[in-house]
Amino acid sequence: MITGQRTIQSYVQEQAALAKFDEINDEATDAAYKAGYYATTVGPSVGFISNLSVALVGVFGGILYFNGSLSLGQLTSFTLYSRRFSGPINMLSNIMAEIQSALAAAERVFNVLDQADEPADTAGAIDIDDVKGDVRFNDVSFAYVKDQPVLHEVSFKAPPGQVIAIVGPTGAGKTTLVNLLMRFYDVDKGIIELDGHNTRTLTRTSLRRSFSMVLQDTWIFHGTVHENIAYGNGDVSRMLDLRKPLGELVSISSSPICQMDMTPS
Ligand SMILES: Nc1ncnc2c1ncn2[C@@H]1O[C@H](COP(=O)(O)OP(=O)(O)OP(=O)(O)O)[C@@H](O)[C@H]1O
Ligand SMILES: [Mg+2]
Repeated sequence: MITGQRTIQSYVQEQAALAKFDEINDEATDAAYKAGYYATTVGPSVGFISNLSVALVGVFGGILYFNGSLSLGQLTSFTLYSRRFSGPINMLSNIMAEIQSALAAAERVFNVLDQADEPADTAGAIDIDDVKGDVRFNDVSFAYVKDQPVLHEVSFKAPPGQVIAIVGPTGAGKTTLVNLLMRFYDVDKGIIELDGHNTRTLTRTSLRRSFSMVLQDTWIFHGTVHENIAYGNGDVSRMLDLRKPLGELVSISSSPICQMDMTPS
């Protein structure tokens, strides 16, 4: 919600966003109150029950002792044993809240671990090289969520050397086209071709190596400016000539971002 502030303001949705935020906030507050309430009541309740059991053992043990059916030693050891038995239960109830929050955290961690791996490349997948850039979508249909189609039989050609802009309202599926082209997802129906090859028959590495992608959301990763521009590709050359005027102002080549030298020379 905070990252989407500009969009919210552009569509004058501040009130709706605030109402939704309040609702989520109230739910979180209620959950926190309930968790606190149970965490503080469970301990004393368990303590009360274990003390009650000691009292009952004392009363009934005392009666049995006076009747002569129980010795003082047996009564004492029984009381001690019942204390030992309830001790761990007391401890468990004290750490119940922590166990609960650990379980909630574990659920999130396992959600990530349980995500299915990207399917392996098909047997005999081609390692494409020297790409001309002929891209074709033939009757491509795709849905992120079953029964909620995003693309429905989309076809277009993007011949090499042409600059093509895909324009559409937000949510139309522009980024989805790129996601499918790079095979971050596989199409449900239809074929995407690159230089006449069905992209499913190419290795993902060679397919992705064939494209340059500029993301809509910008991220700056830890590391140097060069590493951020090259995006993990160590083979990217440094076009020092192009950077000469900037190079005089900014020591850009290998300095970590946080230590960029901005002093004018
Ligand atoms: N990972 C995802 N899981 C489920 N649905 C998604 C996912 N990504 C996008 N969508 C849905 O798919 C539809 C198309 O989204 P997409 O991001 O392709 O739109 P877009 O045209 O790029 O929009 P924008 O102009 O805002 O960037 C939207 O309805 C969006 O909510
Ligand atoms: Mg987009």
